[in-house]
Amino acid sequence: SVPQIKRLLTHSQHLKQTSLPWLEPQGTLAAKKMNKLRLPSQSLFNKTIALLFSKRSTRTRLAAETGASLLGGRALFLGKEDIQLGVNESPRDSARVIGGMCQGIFARVGEHKEIEELAKYSPVPVLNALSSLWHPTQILADLLTLHENAHLFTPEASADKSASLPELRPLTVAYVGDSANVLHDMLVTYPRLGHQLRIASPEQYRAPAEVWKRVEELGCDKGIWWGSDPKEAVYDADVVVTDTWISMGQEAEKADRLKAFSGYQVTEELCREGGANPNWKFLHCLPRKPHEVDDEVFYGPRSLVFPEADNRKWTIMAAFDLLFGKWDISAEGAAH
Ligand code: CP
Ligand code: NVA
Repeated sequence: SVPQIKRLLTHSQHLKQTSLPWLEPQGTLAAKKMNKLRLPSQSLFNKTIALLFSKRSTRTRLAAETGASLLGGRALFLGKEDIQLGVNESPRDSARVIGGMCQGIFARVGEHKEIEELAKYSPVPVLNALSSLWHPTQILADLLTLHENAHLFTPEASADKSASLPELRPLTVAYVGDSANVLHDMLVTYPRLGHQLRIASPEQYRAPAEVWKRVEELGCDKGIWWGSDPKEAVYDADVVVTDTWISMGQEAEKADRLKAFSGYQVTEELCREGGANPNWKFLHCLPRKPHEVDDEVFYGPRSLVFPEADNRKWTIMAAFDLLFGKWDISAEGAAH
């Protein structure tokens, strides 16, 4: 829900501010300061979170492992080559056994129905670390990055470091590229937070029916424009977002996809000709291939991609704290 998203974002920022001093080298000054430092929540003390990953990951895995450690617990990486799941054992049996020894499951799967099945049979909470349809924790990091940079979109406002989570004005967010898991979570989130989405993708690469059904159920379709022309999509955009054209598992479709997405690369020229806000900023979940965005944008001053990657840690940490550490989301002041 929207209040839960906002709570997660506020809590992410709180955990970031509490944790960062502990990550400095412990020189004399840091040691002196340590007496006064607050510990981040230790809700995972003595607890273990299973990272059940059947696909590669850099950011999500790093965020989960380092975040669980800061929360006083442990993340246990279980890659698909390591365990019996899928070869000698069913998801139902694996979920029961893993849930019998761990206090949460963070799962990266192929088909979305795999995570539904894990959630159905797991005795402990299951959090989606990416599936064929959704990538919810990515959107939390994107939103935290936009909130932290709210001053970039409202020039008269200064960067207020004391505010817990700077307010973000309603933005026009353009997405140019493939309709994949990251976009799907944008579809069900951004319009509910008051942001307009403008999307360009080739006709044959549009959200599948089950995703669009959810978009409509949540009333998000009213905040979405969807066409085929990338220039039209970036009109008035404050933020331009893209993702790889070849998601994990689609490698065999590479030639067809490169052809279909020709002309969809995010560049300065595209955004200038399309009439984006001259001050537009760029987001990408990473990993990035040069097809979908050129180096000028990706490494240029508009790009927020590395702060966005760093924020995977604080947002996943917040989700672990709330979901697996049984942190009381309803208690007033519990975030402090
Ligand atoms: N953005 C993201 O999920 O990256 P990884 O695949 O490296 O985890
Ligand atoms: N759409 C991409 C996202 C990677 C984080 C994929 O599924 O491979």
